[in-house]
Amino acid sequence: MSLPVEETAPVPLSALLRERTRAAHGEANSEQFIEELLSGGLSRAAHADLSAQLLPVYEALEEASAALGDDQGSENQGSDNRGAGLVFTELARVPALERDLAFLYGPAWRDEIRILPSTRAYADHIREVGGSLPHYAAHSYTRYLGDLSGGQIVKRMMKQHYGLEEEGVAFYTFPDIPKVKVFKDAYRDALDQLDLDDDEVTATLDETLLAFTLNRAVFTELAEIHC
Ligand code: HEM
Repeated sequence: MSLPVEETAPVPLSALLRERTRAAHGEANSEQFIEELLSGGLSRAAHADLSAQLLPVYEALEEASAALGDDQGSENQGSDNRGAGLVFTELARVPALERDLAFLYGPAWRDEIRILPSTRAYADHIREVGGSLPHYAAHSYTRYLGDLSGGQIVKRMMKQHYGLEEEGVAFYTFPDIPKVKVFKDAYRDALDQLDLDDDEVTATLDETLLAFTLNRAVFTELAEIHC
């Protein structure tokens, strides 16, 4: 008599992502620039510079979101409309970043900010791959779930150390997300509902590690300037 074979449920993508990025996460948040910025050892200019670097990254990410969120995406823009469920308008960060930069640099902020080569490389990379759902999911997860998690700590520290109120840290405030934990759970569910095959899951995990590396490259360049 043969024993019944126990079916093991597949591990959800959100759990795989958390597990596979644990080490990369630890490395990213112990980067010198991040440690010194969060402990108050840098200046408001360093916070402003980080905000400036985030702008091209989110412009690229949110262009990809717009293409994926469009039901006709795959026909019109070469995007994958299986990704529409992962696009949440309440996550959009570009308008908040523009307000922060106007506050931190003044009205001529577009001429004042300087985008670093590592930032250009990061944004260009998102533009190159963002129409592919596994790649988009990787970049969306890395930034937005990070902003909703550690980003909330960053916000508190920026206010505490660099004399900021809400102005200048709008990037870290999600007015349309009243309960962050509830939203993060919904976002993880959306990740888990994506219709990805095994190769695409592998591509998502690999691309997420690359996303962490691209973030670290920006922190390294910022450290050369501010630390
Ligand atoms: C600035 C220093 C950082 C701190 C203090 C920090 C802190 C945290 C904390 C406490 C969580 C867990 C939240 C929870 O359980 O719901 C978290 C999650 C996360 N962080 Fe960070 N973080 C930092 C930097 C970063 C960076 C640089 C990235 C990537 C660019 C990042 C990406 C993420 C992601 C993707 C998650 C979600 C993990 C998951 O639940 O799947 N974090 N962070």
